[in-house]
Amino acid sequence: MRVLIYHDDAEQWRNTLLARLPDAEILIAADSGNPQVDYLVAWKPPASVFEEQTALKGIVNLGAGVDALLQNPALPREIPIVKLRDAGMGELIGDYARYGVLHFQRDFDRYRRHQANSEWREVPVVDKPDWPVGVLGLGAIGTRVAQMLAADGYPIHGWSRSPKRIEGIACHHGDAGLDTLLRQVKTLITLLPDTPATRHIIDRDNLAKLPAGASLINPGRGTLIDEPALLEALGRGERDGESEGHLRGALLDAFPSEPLAAESPLWRHPRILITPHMAGPTPIGAAADQVGDALDAMSKGEAVETVDPEAGY
Ligand code: GLV
Repeated sequence: MRVLIYHDDAEQWRNTLLARLPDAEILIAADSGNPQVDYLVAWKPPASVFEEQTALKGIVNLGAGVDALLQNPALPREIPIVKLRDAGMGELIGDYARYGVLHFQRDFDRYRRHQANSEWREVPVVDKPDWPVGVLGLGAIGTRVAQMLAADGYPIHGWSRSPKRIEGIACHHGDAGLDTLLRQVKTLITLLPDTPATRHIIDRDNLAKLPAGASLINPGRGTLIDEPALLEALGRGERDGESEGHLRGALLDAFPSEPLAAESPLWRHPRILITPHMAGPTPIGAAADQVGDALDAMSKGEAVETVDPEAGY
C-alpha cells in the first residue's frame, strides 16, 4: 500500500506510521515527483494535493474535526474518510474544560480583579453539586469531557442532535433539549462539530437562555459562536467588580479564522481568556495506532467507521 502524508510534521508522522506498517510505502506530500498513492493521511491539505492525487481509495483526517477537509473544493466526494476518534484529545480537552470550570466556580476571575485593586476579599464558594455544567456535543471527545467533569462532582447535562444515553450524564437532544439544558447550566462547554446546523448555535437568543452570571468555554470550533452576540452578552463595563453583562466570562480556544487577528476585540475584553487552539493537540502515538488500524482495514477491504459528509462529522 502506498500512502501520502500531508502534515506540518510529516517526517515524524512517516516514522511513527512506518513502525506500525513496515510494509507500506509512505511518501511525503511536500516532496516533488510523488507517484499516485492509494491513501492520503492529512491535516488540512490544500486543493493541489487532490488535483495531483487522482487514484485515492481513502483519506485519514489527522484530527477529530473534518470541517476544513469537507470544505476543500477539490475533495473527491465518493472516497471514504476516516477521522481520529479521541486519540487522547478527550483527556487533554477535559483538563482544559476543568481549568475553565474551576476558573469560574472557584472565582479566579474575581480574585484577578480583586488583586488588581490590592483587595483582600474572600468570596463564598458555590459547591460543585450546585454548579451544573452543560456539554454541547456528545461525540467521543464531548463524552469524555462530560465524564471527567461528572467524576469531579459537577452535575453534567449533555446535548446531542439525536438521543443518547450516557451513564452519569443527563442527556438532552433536539431543540427542546437544548433549551432545557441552557436554562440551567452555570458553565456551558461547546464541543460540537462545525456544520451548517451548528454555525452560530450560540447566538443572542441562546445566550439569553443561560442563567445570569453563566460562563462559556469553547474548545470546539469558532463558528459555533456568534461573536457580536457574545460580546453583547458579556457587556463592556463592570459594576462593583461584577460583570455588567448577562454572561460572566468566556474561555475561548477556537475562532472562525485562526490565528485570531491582532485587531479582534476579543483579545482585549477583560472577561475573555484566549488560548491559541491548544486545548486538544493530537497525541501522535495513539493517533498513529488509529491511523495504522484504519489503513490496514481499508487495504484489506474491511469495514471502517467513516465520516458522513452530509452530516459534517
Ligand atoms: C482539532 O481541532 C481537531 O479537529 O482535531
